[in-house]
Amino acid sequence: MPKTKARAKPGPRAKVESRSITLRVNGRTIEAETPPHRTLLEALRDAGFVDVKRGCEKGDCGACAVLLDGVAVDSCLTLAWTVEGRDIVTAAGLGSHDAMHPLQRAFVERGAIQCGYCTPGLIVAAQSLLAEAPDPSEDDIRLGLSGNLCRCTGYTKVFEAIRDAAAEMRSARRRR
Ligand code: FES
Ligand code: FES
Repeated sequence: MPKTKARAKPGPRAKVESRSITLRVNGRTIEAETPPHRTLLEALRDAGFVDVKRGCEKGDCGACAVLLDGVAVDSCLTLAWTVEGRDIVTAAGLGSHDAMHPLQRAFVERGAIQCGYCTPGLIVAAQSLLAEAPDPSEDDIRLGLSGNLCRCTGYTKVFEAIRDAAAEMRSARRRR
């Protein structure tokens, strides 16, 4: 009869308690009691930043993307504890209804929004792309949006909107 291995009894696990963390979001400072496993997506939505969308929650769809120090990241893969003190911007933080960001305006004008669920993530990804490539090629846009899924638009209008916004942003820069 095969011997069964004796199993070590699991020892007590150290419990890591929640603590109050401070996040800087869209120029505001928010404080939240946060356990160590809470994602930035959960922390943002709980704090009312519901333009950050909950999609796959495993890094596939990009609906939850936010700018972290200017670079797009999936907030569902980012632990809230790790981004204290960093600069977080959501799609809504880029502009307002009365003073739209060129990307927000171009998405509306080009009809690049249908159901709209992917739109905040796409706008954030596009902003991150344009910061690196102000005059992006087709391939740059394709690569910049490669982490974002849209089930409605077929992407053509999204590409057009990004090209329009890029042109507007370049010409605004020249005027400065
Ligand atoms: S919800 Fe974060 S990538 Fe899909
Ligand atoms: S507009 Fe519906 S998923 Fe993109």
